[in-house]
Amino acid sequence: MIELLPSILSADFAHLADEVAAAERGGGTVIHVDVMDGHFVPNITLGPPVVKSLRKATRLPLDCHLMIENPDEYIPAFADAGANWLSVHYEASRHLHRSLELIAHHGMKPGVVLNPATRVNLITDILPMVHHVLIMSVNPGFGGQSFIPFSLDKIRRLVQLRQELGLAFRIEVDGGVAHDTVAAIVQAGADLLVAGNAVFGDGHPERDARALLAAARKGAGE
Ligand code: DX5
Ligand code: ZN
Repeated sequence: MIELLPSILSADFAHLADEVAAAERGGGTVIHVDVMDGHFVPNITLGPPVVKSLRKATRLPLDCHLMIENPDEYIPAFADAGANWLSVHYEASRHLHRSLELIAHHGMKPGVVLNPATRVNLITDILPMVHHVLIMSVNPGFGGQSFIPFSLDKIRRLVQLRQELGLAFRIEVDGGVAHDTVAAIVQAGADLLVAGNAVFGDGHPERDARALLAAARKGAGE
Protein backbone atom coordinates (compact mmCIF):
# COMPACT_ATOMS: atom_id res chain seq x y z
CA MET A 1 0.00 0.00 0.00
CA ILE A 2 1.34 3.41 -0.95
CA GLU A 3 1.80 5.83 1.94
CA LEU A 4 2.90 9.45 2.05
CA LEU A 5 5.41 10.46 4.73
CA PRO A 6 5.55 14.26 4.98
CA SER A 7 9.07 15.37 5.92
CA ILE A 8 8.98 18.20 8.43
CA LEU A 9 12.39 19.42 7.23
CA SER A 10 10.57 21.80 4.89
CA ALA A 11 7.85 22.76 7.38
CA ASP A 12 7.61 25.96 9.42
CA PHE A 13 9.33 24.88 12.65
CA ALA A 14 7.57 27.60 14.64
CA HIS A 15 4.22 25.97 13.82
CA LEU A 16 5.10 22.32 13.65
CA ALA A 17 1.92 20.95 15.21
CA ASP A 18 -0.28 22.86 12.73
CA GLU A 19 1.90 21.86 9.79
CA VAL A 20 1.79 18.20 10.75
CA ALA A 21 -1.98 18.31 11.28
CA ALA A 22 -2.46 19.85 7.83
CA ALA A 23 -0.27 17.22 6.18
CA GLU A 24 -2.27 14.55 7.95
CA ARG A 25 -5.55 15.98 6.67
CA GLY A 26 -4.02 15.81 3.20
CA GLY A 27 -3.42 12.08 3.58
CA GLY A 28 0.00 11.76 5.24
CA THR A 29 0.06 8.63 7.39
CA VAL A 30 3.57 8.65 8.92
CA ILE A 31 5.62 11.74 9.84
CA HIS A 32 9.22 11.72 8.60
CA VAL A 33 11.69 13.42 10.95
CA ASP A 34 15.19 14.25 9.70
CA VAL A 35 17.87 14.25 12.38
CA MET A 36 21.15 15.84 11.25
CA ASP A 37 24.28 16.39 13.32
CA GLY A 38 26.46 18.67 11.18
CA HIS A 39 29.07 15.90 10.87
CA PHE A 40 27.58 13.02 8.91
CA VAL A 41 25.79 15.61 6.78
CA PRO A 42 26.52 19.31 6.31
CA ASN A 43 23.43 20.55 8.14
CA ILE A 44 22.01 20.56 11.68
CA THR A 45 18.35 20.02 12.50
CA LEU A 46 16.84 18.58 15.66
CA GLY A 47 17.05 15.85 18.26
CA PRO A 48 15.03 13.98 20.89
CA PRO A 49 13.41 17.05 22.53
CA VAL A 50 11.63 17.99 19.30
CA VAL A 51 10.60 14.37 18.75
CA LYS A 52 9.16 14.38 22.26
CA SER A 53 7.07 17.47 21.49
CA LEU A 54 5.93 16.05 18.15
CA ARG A 55 4.88 12.88 19.93
CA LYS A 56 2.37 14.93 21.87
CA ALA A 57 1.20 16.81 18.78
CA THR A 58 0.17 13.87 16.57
CA ARG A 59 -0.98 10.28 16.82
CA LEU A 60 0.73 9.33 13.56
CA PRO A 61 3.85 7.15 13.75
CA LEU A 62 7.11 9.13 13.78
CA ASP A 63 9.71 7.87 11.31
CA CYS A 64 13.07 9.21 12.49
CA HIS A 65 15.84 9.23 9.90
CA LEU A 66 19.17 9.53 11.67
CA MET A 67 21.82 11.32 9.63
CA ILE A 68 24.30 11.30 12.47
CA GLU A 69 27.60 9.72 13.42
CA ASN A 70 27.66 7.15 16.23
CA PRO A 71 23.92 6.49 15.94
CA ASP A 72 23.99 3.71 18.58
CA GLU A 73 24.66 6.29 21.30
CA TYR A 74 21.35 8.04 20.62
CA ILE A 75 18.99 5.12 19.93
CA PRO A 76 17.69 4.89 23.54
CA ALA A 77 17.01 8.65 23.65
CA PHE A 78 14.90 8.50 20.49
CA ALA A 79 12.95 5.56 21.88
CA ASP A 80 12.29 7.49 25.11
CA ALA A 81 11.19 10.52 23.09
CA GLY A 82 8.55 8.45 21.31
CA ALA A 83 10.04 7.57 17.91
CA ASN A 84 8.22 4.62 16.28
CA TRP A 85 10.42 3.87 13.27
CA LEU A 86 14.16 4.52 13.42
CA SER A 87 16.59 4.25 10.54
CA VAL A 88 20.37 4.46 10.51
CA HIS A 89 22.65 4.99 7.55
CA TYR A 90 24.70 2.05 6.29
CA GLU A 91 27.55 4.53 5.91
CA ALA A 92 27.34 5.80 9.50
CA SER A 93 26.98 2.53 11.36
CA ARG A 94 30.18 0.61 11.92
CA HIS A 95 28.27 -2.35 13.34
CA LEU A 96 25.01 -2.21 11.48
CA HIS A 97 23.78 -5.56 12.78
CA ARG A 98 24.19 -4.31 16.34
CA SER A 99 22.48 -0.99 15.57
CA LEU A 100 19.45 -2.74 14.09
CA GLU A 101 19.22 -5.11 17.07
CA LEU A 102 19.41 -2.16 19.42
CA ILE A 103 16.59 -0.35 17.63
CA ALA A 104 14.35 -3.43 17.78
CA HIS A 105 15.32 -4.02 21.41
CA HIS A 106 14.02 -0.53 22.19
CA GLY A 107 10.67 -1.35 20.64
CA MET A 108 11.05 0.62 17.40
CA LYS A 109 10.83 -0.57 13.81
CA PRO A 110 14.38 -0.76 12.41
CA GLY A 111 15.33 0.69 9.04
CA VAL A 112 18.54 0.99 7.07
CA VAL A 113 19.33 3.92 4.78
CA LEU A 114 21.55 3.91 1.70
CA ASN A 115 23.20 7.00 0.26
CA PRO A 116 22.99 7.36 -3.52
CA ALA A 117 26.50 5.91 -4.04
CA THR A 118 25.95 2.85 -1.83
CA ARG A 119 25.03 -0.37 -3.60
CA VAL A 120 21.91 -2.27 -2.59
CA ASN A 121 23.71 -5.64 -2.59
CA LEU A 122 25.80 -4.58 0.43
CA ILE A 123 22.83 -4.98 2.78
CA THR A 124 21.60 -8.38 1.57
CA ASP A 125 22.58 -10.20 4.76
CA ILE A 126 20.77 -7.86 7.13
CA LEU A 127 17.56 -7.50 5.12
CA PRO A 128 15.72 -10.04 7.32
CA MET A 129 16.24 -7.63 10.26
CA VAL A 130 14.65 -4.53 8.81
CA HIS A 131 11.14 -3.17 8.67
CA HIS A 132 12.08 -0.76 5.88
CA VAL A 133 14.93 0.14 3.56
CA LEU A 134 15.28 3.82 2.80
CA ILE A 135 16.78 4.66 -0.56
CA MET A 136 18.19 8.18 -0.59
CA SER A 137 17.42 9.65 -3.96
CA VAL A 138 19.41 12.81 -3.21
CA ASN A 139 22.56 13.30 -1.17
CA PRO A 140 21.27 13.77 2.38
CA GLY A 141 21.43 17.11 4.14
CA PHE A 142 18.91 19.40 2.49
CA GLY A 143 15.38 19.51 1.20
CA GLY A 144 14.38 20.67 -2.25
CA GLN A 145 17.05 18.84 -4.28
CA SER A 146 16.50 17.05 -7.60
CA PHE A 147 15.74 13.33 -7.76
CA ILE A 148 18.73 11.24 -8.88
CA PRO A 149 17.37 9.03 -11.71
CA PHE A 150 19.45 5.89 -11.06
CA SER A 151 17.67 5.57 -7.71
CA LEU A 152 14.93 3.85 -9.71
CA ASP A 153 17.31 1.00 -10.56
CA LYS A 154 18.12 0.61 -6.87
CA ILE A 155 14.42 0.35 -6.00
CA ARG A 156 13.94 -2.32 -8.68
CA ARG A 157 16.95 -4.24 -7.38
CA LEU A 158 15.51 -4.17 -3.86
CA VAL A 159 12.15 -5.44 -5.07
CA GLN A 160 13.98 -8.31 -6.78
CA LEU A 161 16.02 -9.11 -3.65
CA ARG A 162 12.90 -9.02 -1.48
CA GLN A 163 11.24 -11.54 -3.73
CA GLU A 164 14.29 -13.81 -3.94
CA LEU A 165 14.65 -13.84 -0.16
CA GLY A 166 10.93 -14.16 0.56
CA LEU A 167 10.90 -11.07 2.77
CA ALA A 168 8.32 -8.34 3.38
CA PHE A 169 10.30 -5.20 4.28
CA ARG A 170 8.97 -1.95 2.88
CA ILE A 171 10.78 0.27 0.42
CA GLU A 172 11.00 3.96 1.26
CA VAL A 173 12.29 6.72 -0.99
CA ASP A 174 13.55 10.09 0.22
CA GLY A 175 14.63 13.10 -1.82
CA GLY A 176 13.12 14.84 -4.80
CA VAL A 177 9.79 13.00 -4.54
CA ALA A 178 7.49 15.37 -6.41
CA HIS A 179 4.75 15.55 -9.00
CA ASP A 180 7.03 14.88 -11.92
CA THR A 181 8.92 11.97 -10.31
CA VAL A 182 6.39 10.14 -8.18
CA ALA A 183 4.79 7.97 -10.86
CA ALA A 184 8.14 6.46 -11.90
CA ILE A 185 9.05 5.93 -8.24
CA VAL A 186 5.94 3.91 -7.40
CA GLN A 187 6.17 2.02 -10.68
CA ALA A 188 9.71 0.97 -9.74
CA GLY A 189 8.23 -0.54 -6.55
CA ALA A 190 8.59 1.95 -3.68
CA ASP A 191 5.61 2.22 -1.35
CA LEU A 192 6.74 4.68 1.34
CA LEU A 193 7.11 8.14 -0.17
CA VAL A 194 8.90 10.83 1.81
CA ALA A 195 8.25 14.36 0.63
CA GLY A 196 9.34 17.65 2.16
CA ASN A 197 9.37 20.42 -0.38
CA ALA A 198 6.48 18.97 -2.40
CA VAL A 199 4.26 19.01 0.70
CA PHE A 200 5.38 22.06 2.70
CA GLY A 201 7.29 24.18 0.17
CA ASP A 202 4.39 26.32 -1.02
CA GLY A 203 2.70 26.79 2.35
CA HIS A 204 -0.33 24.60 1.51
CA PRO A 205 0.53 21.23 3.05
CA GLU A 206 -3.00 19.82 3.09
CA ARG A 207 -3.69 20.61 -0.55
CA ASP A 208 -0.23 19.62 -1.76
CA ALA A 209 -0.06 16.36 0.21
CA ARG A 210 -3.43 15.36 -1.20
CA ALA A 211 -2.37 16.14 -4.77
CA LEU A 212 0.94 14.28 -4.46
CA LEU A 213 -0.71 11.21 -2.98
CA ALA A 214 -3.31 11.22 -5.73
CA ALA A 215 -0.56 11.40 -8.37
CA ALA A 216 1.27 8.50 -6.67
CA ARG A 217 -1.84 6.31 -6.52
CA LYS A 218 -2.69 7.11 -10.11
CA GLY A 219 0.86 6.26 -11.18
CA ALA A 220 0.62 2.93 -9.38
CA GLY A 221 -2.76 2.19 -10.92
CA GLU A 222 -4.43 2.02 -7.48
C1 DX5 B 1 17.22 15.06 3.03
C2 DX5 B 1 16.17 14.49 3.92
C3 DX5 B 1 14.81 14.46 3.34
C4 DX5 B 1 14.27 15.77 2.85
C5 DX5 B 1 13.66 15.50 1.53
O1 DX5 B 1 18.46 14.83 3.57
O2 DX5 B 1 16.49 13.17 4.33
O3 DX5 B 1 13.87 13.79 4.17
O4 DX5 B 1 13.31 16.35 3.70
O5 DX5 B 1 13.30 16.71 1.00
P1 DX5 B 1 12.60 16.89 -0.40
O6 DX5 B 1 11.36 16.08 -0.39
O7 DX5 B 1 12.36 18.36 -0.41
O8 DX5 B 1 13.57 16.45 -1.46
ZN1 ZN C 1 14.89 11.98 5.41
